[in-house]
Formats: sequence, structure tokens, C-alpha cells
Amino acid sequence: MKLFSSVNDVKDVKALVAEALQLKQNPYAHQHLGKNKTLSLIFLNPSLRTRISTQKAGANLGMNVIVLNIDKEGWALELRDNMIMNGTTVEHIREAASVMGEYSDIIGVRSFPGLKDREEDYSETIFNKFVEFCKVPVVSLESATRHPLQSLADLVTIEELKTKPRPKVVLSWAPHIKALPQAVPNSFAEWMCKANVDFTIAHPAGYELSADFTNGANITHDQDEAIKDADFIYVKNWSAYEPYGAVIGGNEDWMLNNTRLDAVAPNAKVMHCLPVRRDLELSSEILDSPKSIVVHEAGNRVWAAQAVLKQMLEAL
Ligand code: CP
Repeated sequence: MKLFSSVNDVKDVKALVAEALQLKQNPYAHQHLGKNKTLSLIFLNPSLRTRISTQKAGANLGMNVIVLNIDKEGWALELRDNMIMNGTTVEHIREAASVMGEYSDIIGVRSFPGLKDREEDYSETIFNKFVEFCKVPVVSLESATRHPLQSLADLVTIEELKTKPRPKVVLSWAPHIKALPQAVPNSFAEWMCKANVDFTIAHPAGYELSADFTNGANITHDQDEAIKDADFIYVKNWSAYEPYGAVIGGNEDWMLNNTRLDAVAPNAKVMHCLPVRRDLELSSEILDSPKSIVVHEAGNRVWAAQAVLKQMLEAL
């Protein structure tokens, strides 16, 4: 594998999930693959889970791992072409990405959307410039429109904890006070549509995701009907795709609580990519109960990252 930016970069999703679960059983079996190889993780935005899990995954494979918070520790980056750099930016992404490629065998990049210009965000300008100029394999640590390492960990978690061959999985929109990206729900939908699950997306009117990511999913505005008898409920907020980045008020009752869960989906396991705002997106009573598998899910981020890095190292 030379690029991991979406589920479409994966030849065999089932095999990649199985590989992640095998690595969980035997994390240090492939340390020879990463010997004298460098993994550089470049963050243009904050992270807890992605940073540490990918760092640990690289170390488990014997790699040297460099983490650069380029937004705070690097020179101010210019992303635009054909302009005179007489403002606040100091270094162009063309040189910066090329130089990082000189120091690295694999590069990871995190770059969030601006949520102002949909065309610009959905063209993945920043991520694609890193891919173009660094000239080494690149793994997405969450881009403007997708978070594939998160989605792979989510699928690994479902595979690990499911109690029937084809579980019912529901992506359920949740309230938030800020405009959040569509990357996690886009990506989750895209991966679930390729997995052996019965998949439904529930959201209030106005929060339709791009059909490019949801093709094959059941979509409804009725949350109770959607989550009825669900095996897994993936709770996540996102802002509107149209008008882009909008937050539509009045949907606070979409936050799940125990009473509603017990009434319609008593056996559901509740997932969230984290970070989560307690009692805004998801109730504390659920997060603190055995129904919540959010920490287990975050733990699986290591094995998801390790499976991807292993396939990249094997292809070097
Ligand atoms: N879920 C996730 O990507 O977490 P971080 O933003 O903390 O990396």
C-alpha cells in the first residue's frame, strides 16, 4: 500500500481488519519491517488518539517515529501557488513537504477542513499537496473529508464485539454547539457500506451527507426507528453539507440517554470516535455505563494504524 486516504485504497477490507486483530494478539512480531525506517507524523490540527496510537503503532513495528505539530512548531506554511510570499507565511508547502519526504519513509498528515469553502475542502488541497510533493507513502491522520484510520478501528471494534454475523449498525447524529467536519461520518459511512453490516444513518432534516459517501446506506430522520434493536450505535455530530458548515438549531433531543436506549435498543453498544462533549453529544449515564465501548474503540486505533503501516512497510 502506497496511500491510505480512504477505504478505496484498501484492496481487501476484510483481510485488513483480520490483520489488525492478529496484530492485537501479537504486536511485536514484525519489528524487523520497521528497522531503520522513519515515520513522520505531521499535524496541522490538534490530536490525542491519532497522534499517540499511530506513534505506538510505528514503534511496535520497530520504526523511528517523529511527531511535528507543524501548525505550532514549524514555519508558517503557504499553501497557495502563483503568489508572492510577502505576507505572514514563511515556507511553501512545496519545499516543506519535499524536505519532510527526504527525512521519512512514510508520512502521516492531519489536516482539517476550513468549513467555509466546500469545493476547496472536498478537493483535499492540503492533503493532496503533501502526497504530491513528499514522494513517499502517505497515511491520512484525518483529512478535510475523511478519517480512514478511525473508520478502520471502528470496523475492527464491530468485528471484535459483534454477536451475530451481520449486525445492525446505526450512525446517529448528535447535537453540538460548534460546526464540526463531516470527515468522521463520511468515512464511517463509506467503510460501513463496504462491510457485512445492516447500516442505517439517522439525522435531523438538513444534515444530509454527500451521497458520494452514503451510497448503499438506509437514511432516515426518525432516530427511534433507526436505532430500534441496533447492535451498534455510532454517535457523532456533524455540520451541514448544504448550506456548507451550517449548524441548525433545535435538535437537542437527538442526544441519546439511557431511557430511550433501554426502550428501543437495550442491547446496543454505543460508539463515538472521541473527543466527546458529555451531556451535549452523549449523556454521561451512557458513557459511564457498560453500554459504552468508546475507550475500547479508541484502544483499537493502535491495531488499525499498525495494520496499515505494516502493509506500507511491506510495499517499500
Ligand atoms: N478520534 C480522533 O481522531 O481523536 P483525536 O482527534 O484526538 O486524534
